[in-house]
Amino acid sequence: MSEKQDQLNAAAKKIGIGAIRRHVLLCVGDKCCTDEVGHAAWEKLKQKLKDVGLSAGDAVCQRTRAGCLRICCHGPVMVVYPEGVWYHEMTVDKIDRLVNEHLIAGKPIEEWIFARNAIA
Ligand code: FES
Repeated sequence: MSEKQDQLNAAAKKIGIGAIRRHVLLCVGDKCCTDEVGHAAWEKLKQKLKDVGLSAGDAVCQRTRAGCLRICCHGPVMVVYPEGVWYHEMTVDKIDRLVNEHLIAGKPIEEWIFARNAIA
């Protein structure tokens, strides 16, 4: 196997590709929130996913810090796949509940949702 393929395999293994069950994208862009608000939410999300065991194992939640999800208001904006649930104003104080209710229990939080588009 080539060195390139070895590197790619190692990187894929490190982030749990093959065991990913959900993907959370959080916008920290400056059109929908301040740097401080976006950074705080992102750091909390990373730590919470690690704390509850969703960063590794057989049911990984992939996470992506996005620069813009093309909504650009009332952020931080978040989208969770495969459900395609879009959340607004996902500030640091909401991350615990998001992880517990949606990512662990599988129940999206209706009052924070502003759009839906599951991808089949
Ligand atoms: S800057 Fe957050 S959606 Fe565009």
